[in-house]
Amino acid sequence: MRVKNISIFLAYLCYSLFMEKIFTITVDNLDATNILAQKFANAFRQNGAFVCLYGDIGAGKTAFTKLVANHLNVKEKVTSPSFVIINEYLSGDLPIYHFDLYRLENEGVKTIVDELVEYSRPKVLTFVEWAEFSDFELPFDRIEIRIDYIDENKRTFTFSCEGEEYKKCLEGINK
Ligand SMILES: Nc1ncnc2c1ncn2[C@@H]1O[C@H](COP(=O)(O)OP(=O)(O)OP(=O)(O)O)[C@@H](O)[C@H]1O
Ligand SMILES: [Mg+2]
Repeated sequence: MRVKNISIFLAYLCYSLFMEKIFTITVDNLDATNILAQKFANAFRQNGAFVCLYGDIGAGKTAFTKLVANHLNVKEKVTSPSFVIINEYLSGDLPIYHFDLYRLENEGVKTIVDELVEYSRPKVLTFVEWAEFSDFELPFDRIEIRIDYIDENKRTFTFSCEGEEYKKCLEGINK
């Protein structure tokens, strides 16, 4: 557990040092998160993205991913990958890979990180929950979404990125 806490600390440090913050939005309820998810889906439907999701347990990382997947016309039921580490959805407008690294032990991280990097190819949308446990071997160009719990229904989303294309798309969402 201690190792995980140190990782989280380092992740936040890296997060604030390298990523360019594009915008922050506070949503009052799940319906408003759904509107945000729709805009996100529209922005990345064409070219995909590599997305790391940060936030405490219950912040809404899985909820946001599910909503985005629905807007990308995924037919299967989208579920949390907490136990299975990765879920893939190939029935929508583009392939979606959804990782949750929380339960991986150190040994497992190495294998999954190789896969993660493979999934960072163009025209694929990859979401990674608890990316702070990846030892930072992630694609340099990426989107980071931080979700802060405000109250039962209210959340603050902060979107950051590295990469000009991602920046343009995220700025489009905020217009
Ligand atoms: N505005 C909101 N945005 C997102 N989720 C919300 C909002 N309001 C309420 N919720 C609820 O908060 C819960 C978030 O749970 P979720 O499983 O998405 O968390 P998580 O960040 O993936 O946690 P974990 O780290 O355990 O995987 C869901 O039950 C969701 O319906
Ligand atoms: Mg989750």
